[in-house]
Amino acid sequence: MRTAEPPTGIDLTVRLGRLVLRNPVLTVSGTCGYGDEYAPFMDLGRLGAFTSKSVTLHPRRGNVPPRIIETAGGMLNAIGLANVGLERFISEKLPVLAKLDVPAFVNVAGHTIEEYRTVCRRLDPHEAIAGIELNVSCPNVSDGLVFGTDPDALGRLVADVRKVVTRSLLIVKLSPNVTDITQTARAAIEAGADCLSLVNTFVGMAIDVERQRPLLANRTGGLSGPAIKPLALHLVNRVYREVAGPAGIPLIGMGGICTWRDAVEFMLAGSTAVGIGTALFIDPTTPVKVLEGVEAYLRRHRLKSVSQLVGRLRFDADEPPAG
Ligand SMILES: Cc1cc2nc3c(=O)[nH]c(=O)nc-3n(C[C@H](O)[C@H](O)[C@H](O)COP(=O)(O)O)c2cc1C
Repeated sequence: MRTAEPPTGIDLTVRLGRLVLRNPVLTVSGTCGYGDEYAPFMDLGRLGAFTSKSVTLHPRRGNVPPRIIETAGGMLNAIGLANVGLERFISEKLPVLAKLDVPAFVNVAGHTIEEYRTVCRRLDPHEAIAGIELNVSCPNVSDGLVFGTDPDALGRLVADVRKVVTRSLLIVKLSPNVTDITQTARAAIEAGADCLSLVNTFVGMAIDVERQRPLLANRTGGLSGPAIKPLALHLVNRVYREVAGPAGIPLIGMGGICTWRDAVEFMLAGSTAVGIGTALFIDPTTPVKVLEGVEAYLRRHRLKSVSQLVGRLRFDADEPPAG
């Protein structure tokens, strides 16, 4: 019997709304600064896109240290959105990002709808920005709301920001710290998100048993890394099957991805693109290794395009009964 020849050229491009990326492997917000700090360690031209640290309207010093703790299979961080603020981002960081030959996603955080809207309105016209990602997981200190956990508040935020984000891809980053993530996913999509990214970190804690005090000065932090991968994968698959897949909205999956196998799992579960964060602290070249591994997997499975993997996961119940 003649076996089919393996495909020669494999199409690694993926489409996120109007945007076509050269490959599906991205960096995630907060783990590689604004690009200039990361560029010496890895050819950013190999990435599908680069995602910046969260930018807020005003500069923030962040929380007092210790604000990062290593845990079993992961890390807890309570950086507290330390960043240079909107104006310095535009004057100092954006010109550097623009020269990096990689589509830039700028992550935006805020405390009120007005703050998000002001930042997004200023950023959207800049050609160097391919996408704006809303980090909705920080507490709304002015009225006690947490956008990422309240579907109504999230819907209002996204609908308002949508009015001023007319050029860039609008990505909404979902919090995993909810009872039913499909509710926030649905609210974001109905309010006009082009794409969802998930997940942000899970709230966690670590204790110094000798001092009998929390290890983080902030008491709690966000857990990331391999420890959260099965949790994140499940949430991506739920959102894909129940909300985003039927609505035709692409997902950027993230949470503990360290290897090509992890990336393939996220794509099978429904991610069009995958984000890598905590793994960069161990090996900043992880995205290249992941991409090469995904390409080899596609070759082995005789698939011509990486997008053929998206949502390919099947459950036994999907199959017709045997016999
Ligand atoms: C040190 C650190 C800082 C982070 N800062 C941000 C941030 O500023 N904005 C944001 O939306 N997510 C931030 N995150 C969350 C990541 O973007 C990502 O959602 C999460 O870490 C899961 O991916 P990972 O397990 O590959 O790191 C941060 C994560 C870490 C580890």
